[in-house]
Formats: sequence, C-alpha cells, structure tokens
Amino acid sequence: MVKEYIDKNKERFLDELFELLKIESVSADSKFKNEVNKAADWLVGSFKKLKLENVEKIKTKGHPIVYAEKILDDSYPTILVYGHYDVQPADPYDLWDSPPFEPTIKNGKIYARGACDDKGQMYMHLKAYEALQNTAKINFNIKFMIEGEEECGSDSLEEFVSKNKEKLSADVIVISDTSIINNDNPSITVGLRGLSYMEVELTGPNRDLHSGTYGGAVNNPINQLCEIISSLKDKNGVIKIPGFYDKVVNHEERERDKINKVPFDLSEFKSHIDIGDTFGENGFSTVERIGTRPTLDVNGIWGGYTNEGAKTVLPSKAYAKISMRLVSNQSSSEISSLFTEHLNKICPKSCKIKITEHHGGEPCVVNTNTKGYRSAYKAFQEVWKKDPVPTFDGGSIPIVALFKKELLLDSILMGFGLDEDAIHSPNESYGLFNFYKGIETITCFYQNFAKDEE
Ligand code: BES
Ligand code: MN
Ligand code: MN
Repeated sequence: MVKEYIDKNKERFLDELFELLKIESVSADSKFKNEVNKAADWLVGSFKKLKLENVEKIKTKGHPIVYAEKILDDSYPTILVYGHYDVQPADPYDLWDSPPFEPTIKNGKIYARGACDDKGQMYMHLKAYEALQNTAKINFNIKFMIEGEEECGSDSLEEFVSKNKEKLSADVIVISDTSIINNDNPSITVGLRGLSYMEVELTGPNRDLHSGTYGGAVNNPINQLCEIISSLKDKNGVIKIPGFYDKVVNHEERERDKINKVPFDLSEFKSHIDIGDTFGENGFSTVERIGTRPTLDVNGIWGGYTNEGAKTVLPSKAYAKISMRLVSNQSSSEISSLFTEHLNKICPKSCKIKITEHHGGEPCVVNTNTKGYRSAYKAFQEVWKKDPVPTFDGGSIPIVALFKKELLLDSILMGFGLDEDAIHSPNESYGLFNFYKGIETITCFYQNFAKDEE
C-alpha cells in the first residue's frame, strides 16, 4: 500500500525536492542569507501542506530553525525527526558538470548541492509521513526540527535544544544524514566522529622582506609552519600531541573483528577516488581508520606570494586550518587545548604563533540495545530483504551528542547516502533508488516504532 502510494506519487515527490534544491541555502556565507531564509519558508509551506500543527519558523541569532508537529494522542510514542536544510558552499563552480542549484537527473541520480546532504535525505521524512497519512492509521506522534546551521556548527540549535527540552520531548530521535555501505549492503550508523577545528597564524618578521637581503638570517614562517605541521604525525601515522590518545577507546580484538567484517570493498574505495594506495595509521584497516581512529589533517594552508611569475619575498605570515576528527571518549575542548598548548610550546622564538578555535563537536556511539535501533533494524530487513550492518562513520553530526546530553535521547542514524555521492564536493548526487527506498524504509521504521515490542 505504502509502496504503491510512493510509486504513484514519485514524480511529484521529485518535483517538490527540486524546488528545494534550487534554493541556494549556503549557511556559511552571509551572501546567501536570504536564500537560507527562503529555504526555511519553503519548508514551512511544506509542513503546512502536510497539515502539521504548530508550524513555526523560529528566529535565532543565526539562521532559522523550522519546527512542526502532529500530536495525535498523548498516549502514542513520539518520534522527533532532525535534519538540516542548509548546504555547503558549491565552490569550485567550474568543476560541476551541471550547475549546483539547477538539479539534473543523470544515470539514475539527482545532481545538485544538497541532493544527499541533507535536503534529499531530510525530505524523505516528510514524504514518508505523507505516504502513511494516505495509506495507514497513524499511531505515533511526530515532531520535526530542521535546522539551517548544521554545516557551520549548529550554534543556534544548541541553544534552542537546551532551552526547549519540554517542547522537544520524545521517545526517539531519527536522523537521515549519513550513508550506507552500498545499495546491496544496507547499514545503520552506530558511531560518528567528533571534531576539533583550529586555525594557526604564524608571524615571522613584521613585514614581507627581500628574500636576498634577509633570507637565511630570518626565520620564514611558511617554512616553520610546514615543520610544525610535519612534526605533528610520525611515520607510522601516529599523532604526536602529548595526551592526544589518552581517552581514545581501544576496541578489543573481538570487537575489531566485527568492525572489520563489514562488506567493504577496498579496490572500489581506491578506484572511486583514483588513488594508488590507501594511507594512514599503521596497524589499522581502512574501515577502522575512518570509523574508530582519530585524525589530524590540514584543510588549507596559505601565505606568501602565489600570483603569476616569481616575487623574491620572505613572507611575514603563514596560515593553516587544521582539523582533528575525534573518537569516543575524546572531548573536543580538551583536544583543542592540548593542540594549542603543544603548538605554543614547539614554536621557536623566531616566530610568533596565534591559535584560534573554530566550531567543534563531540563524537558519539549509538546504543543498539534500544527499541529505536531494533525498529530501524527490522525496517531494513523488511524493505531491503537483508540484515543491515552496524557501521562507524567518519563524519560528524555534533548535535547528536548534545541530544543525548540535554534530551537524554539516543538518535537513530538511518541515512541512505553513498560515499560516491560526493557530499561537500562538486557534482554531489543522490540516487533515485536511495530516495524512494529510503522513504519506504522510513515509513516502516515509524510504524515499527509505534508498535509494542513482543
Ligand atoms: N551529513 C554530514 C555528516 C556525515 C556525512 C556523517 C557522511 C556521516 C557520513 C554533515 O552534514 C557534515 O558534513 N558534518 C560536518 C560537521 C561540521 C560542519 C561541524 C562534518 O562532518 O564535517
Ligand atoms: Mn549533513
Ligand atoms: Mn555536510
């Protein structure tokens, strides 16, 4: 029944999603502020069409949060859906085969910024609820909370959650903003990494110098920054910041075997991103390096002369943005302090160092011994005819740890994206198969959760 409904309405579902994908809701860049607001308005309209109640666009210091609910009966269980309508910047535009905000279908996939992360995945929940409204008796309450700042740190949402515990009270949270292994091997995410994101500014002399008259006698901050960065990891891929691994959970052999049993295809992994070999911490598999081990990576580095031709200059400044992905039980603020202390200590007197912290987030591990997890597990079995595999994803959704802390609720990370969907990259895509199958799986999850457990 549900399946037929989805099938009958599939073109319209897609047309609607395309309307949202056309809105350039880039949260990180203030140039797009109006567009972000437009996306929030569009969602308000969609929730109203679904006849949800208390549909609100909630103003914040940053971008608005869209909230909607349908409380049918106080005795029913309540499901809180979280998602985000903001997207990453689409740069570099010239690497897109079709414009990022003109959604296009090619090879069974939707190409657009946000197709997978997270407009396409978040919208599946609205369509799943619509499908049930038209085909079933709904015996659960639903609350939607869709934010516009996930891609830049969820600052406003953190405040909103802490101040609105009553409003957000629920029995489970469900989020579709992660990926599955592949379309033959569905999976449920049971862990996400946290994040510390730092910016380093190194100053040598007080102005750019002639690299002949001064070179060799004055420390070059770019050379020095490179030296600092390369000292942060040894040849075995081990991060050398004192105390960095103190709180990392070392999984037992049995647990590691289980983690490594996932049907992960290494040669496909390499060929998708065109690399000759993988790289990382010795003694750990690729699956472990991504899911259960922390990282330290330079995200950007700049300074000195980079325009046409050669300019003989000894630069005054050098900069780098460095991110560390964290695993449980590391704490973002602790790691940021360890990083800052260590760099301050190793920076020689010949340079001045300034370190600032950008947004961070805590790692999370999902408790699988819950009704929510079992409901998701069964939904995958029913719709995909396969047992889903629990996986540890490498990305971060910082608000999940906060949900646990403030609302005391576990989140079910039921995403349907694929690694090759190229989220945050040019030519982001989302498979039509994943979109429709995801809607069906979500309807199943909602209904399983509403049932009493045997
Ligand atoms: N949806 C992603 C996170 C994700 C992607 C988790 C794939 C698991 C698999 C989310 O939108 C994201 O990009 N998060 C940021 C967090 C940051 C901006 C605080 C990230 O991971 O870089
Ligand atoms: Mn996302
Ligand atoms: Mn993202």
